[in-house]
Amino acid sequence: MSDRPRLLPLLTTHRHGSRSPMTCLYRCGNACDHPVPNRSDNPYFGDLVDAEVSRRGVVRAGAVGALVLGFGGAVASGAAPAAAAPDAAGPPTVPAVPEISDFAAPQRGTGSGALTFKAIPPNKLDTLVVPNGYDHSVVIRWGDPVVPDGPGFDLHRQTAARQAKQFGYNNDYVGVLPLDRQGRRALLVVNHEYTNEDLMFPGFTSQDALSVEQVRVAMAAHGMSVVEIERVDGTGQWQVVRTGRRPYNRRVTAHGTRFDLTGPAAGSAFLKTAADPRGRVVIGTLNNCAGGVTPWGTVLSGEENFNQYFVGGDAVADEVKPKLARYGISTTARYPSGSRRWERADERFDLAKHPNEANRFGWIVEIDPFDPERRPRKHTALGRFKHEGANVIVARDGHVVAYLGDDERFDYLYKFVSEKKYRTGDSWAARQHNLSLLESGTLYVAKLDQTSAAEIDGSGRLPADGAFDGRGSWIKLVSGDRSYVPGMTAAEVLTFTRFAGDQVGATKMDRPEDVEPSLRTGKVYVALTNNSERGAAGRPAADEANPRNANRHGQILELVEDSGDNTAEAFAWSLPIVCGDPADPSTYFAGYDKTKVSPVSCPDNVAFDAAGNLWISTDGNALGSNDGLFATPVEGPERGHLKQFLTVPVGAETCGPFITADNRSVFVAVQHPGELTGASVENPASNWPDGDIAKPGVVVAWRLDGAPIGT
Ligand code: FEO
Ligand code: CA
Ligand code: CA
Repeated sequence: MSDRPRLLPLLTTHRHGSRSPMTCLYRCGNACDHPVPNRSDNPYFGDLVDAEVSRRGVVRAGAVGALVLGFGGAVASGAAPAAAAPDAAGPPTVPAVPEISDFAAPQRGTGSGALTFKAIPPNKLDTLVVPNGYDHSVVIRWGDPVVPDGPGFDLHRQTAARQAKQFGYNNDYVGVLPLDRQGRRALLVVNHEYTNEDLMFPGFTSQDALSVEQVRVAMAAHGMSVVEIERVDGTGQWQVVRTGRRPYNRRVTAHGTRFDLTGPAAGSAFLKTAADPRGRVVIGTLNNCAGGVTPWGTVLSGEENFNQYFVGGDAVADEVKPKLARYGISTTARYPSGSRRWERADERFDLAKHPNEANRFGWIVEIDPFDPERRPRKHTALGRFKHEGANVIVARDGHVVAYLGDDERFDYLYKFVSEKKYRTGDSWAARQHNLSLLESGTLYVAKLDQTSAAEIDGSGRLPADGAFDGRGSWIKLVSGDRSYVPGMTAAEVLTFTRFAGDQVGATKMDRPEDVEPSLRTGKVYVALTNNSERGAAGRPAADEANPRNANRHGQILELVEDSGDNTAEAFAWSLPIVCGDPADPSTYFAGYDKTKVSPVSCPDNVAFDAAGNLWISTDGNALGSNDGLFATPVEGPERGHLKQFLTVPVGAETCGPFITADNRSVFVAVQHPGELTGASVENPASNWPDGDIAKPGVVVAWRLDGAPIGT
């Protein structure tokens, strides 16, 4: 743009936390304006008195700890996986093959590393802020070329073909997978969750007025990117490789990439369409939110708010309507509010014509970034809901366990345990075996019981026993082809998983976002972001795991699986952090001195550094500051000492995050900068990152003295 755009006065009336109505519209199709999809009478546990569980309900501190985790060991690190070497046993599909062991500092200790950076204060600056002694740079932004012949960004000449070769919009999940033993090159794998046409197209007036080509641009701006990056001068900084073959660089989009369906629901009647009568191949992936790196060097990605891409739900058969409504798809209007009108470019988004198409989204996707020719897969064994993401740990006995959250108010927490065991070693055969691990297994949903039910009044006041805590169980929904839910086949359980959770009495949570096991301790951490409707008329009231009515700031849940075994069917749980302004008596930081912690609101994505510290990024800070990234030890005397590491620019949310295994680089995705109602290309509300229009982008932060972040 020739003239530097002027900032708008901030027109927005914030609705949910600091989220602008524009974010509500584009990100989740105004989900909060629609009825909560979970209308089941599945009793929330505030109604339940489980005397047996209450008697047993103590946190078994120290129950976990026997896991020995290290790179190259039997329990591989999801934070920094080894990609397997091709060997004589099979065709080499990967040109160059890394091992992680030399890239990363080995993981040792118990996760009690102190964090040495000085917390930054909350702020509303239109820039990215890191602590003193740190620097940051933009690695890649919307419109930058991804494939080697990709064109540069030109706002006024954008086409779907150009966008399909460029970095997509609204980066969310970030994974960094090493390409060599020296830590010099890596693959950056990023999700592109959704588009904001107001901020992408000059002269935008409405979705209806977009040209069909512009709709296709938006489709191409969804999906994922794989980009080769390199370390800058031995520092913690990374940049995109701009020369050479770059054989892995790749775009995955909503309309140009085919996905194989795997698992028990693949080929079922629910997944068959006119274009795919076998029900086994889906075009595209939608609304890819968070994710995780597997120990075998692939990336998992969650298809989240897929509901908003479909029209025509009013015209489906009556028996189908509840199945759409439970997933947030309107069954009363042809064009629900916020409709993206994609059916104008591709009629499969019209449910009146193709009622099963919506069933083909809402899955966990697995992509092998080391094999650009390999078709990505959608794993039906992990169930269908508004998947936030998936994070994997190899259990002691070798089974692979994936933890999963359904990001909707009053929806559920899940886990998957593989049927087969993880195979160690770097052989081609071992990797092929491990690539099949998510195709068959057992899917569970969580039921949490409480120790202090009578004391929970919705205020967030800590019970007399000093903790929000209890025990819980994993309720088996399906194992292989066998359903454990009365009246539902395995394919039904996996395709309409929310109904299965309703039926077995799963616990209604405050929006389960990212769920991630610590690879040091095996303990599992869940970001419960907020729930404006908790305790509202006719809605479930507070319970011990969701202890505040009208919950604006969210909480962190910690699960400790029985005997430290991630395949266990029972666990202890507690809330180490109840978010908000530390001066607010309803907040809790593991008992740490609240005068020393940073205010935090709306936890969303979580990650671990190599020292085992928990990093938390926020979405929709209801305290008025920009969103940011925080870190806290979760073991030892510093547990609960939460400090703010970074803030993102005006209107943005902080996604990713990813801390490299050498603990020297922190990657975050800056999603939807400048997304404030009234903003446009002509009048951006943020000028980040280049001083003109707002562009989502991935940032790396590093310590200037070259030392690891923290200790
Ligand atoms: Fe896309 Fe649940 O955040
Ligand atoms: Ca308690
Ligand atoms: Ca998220």
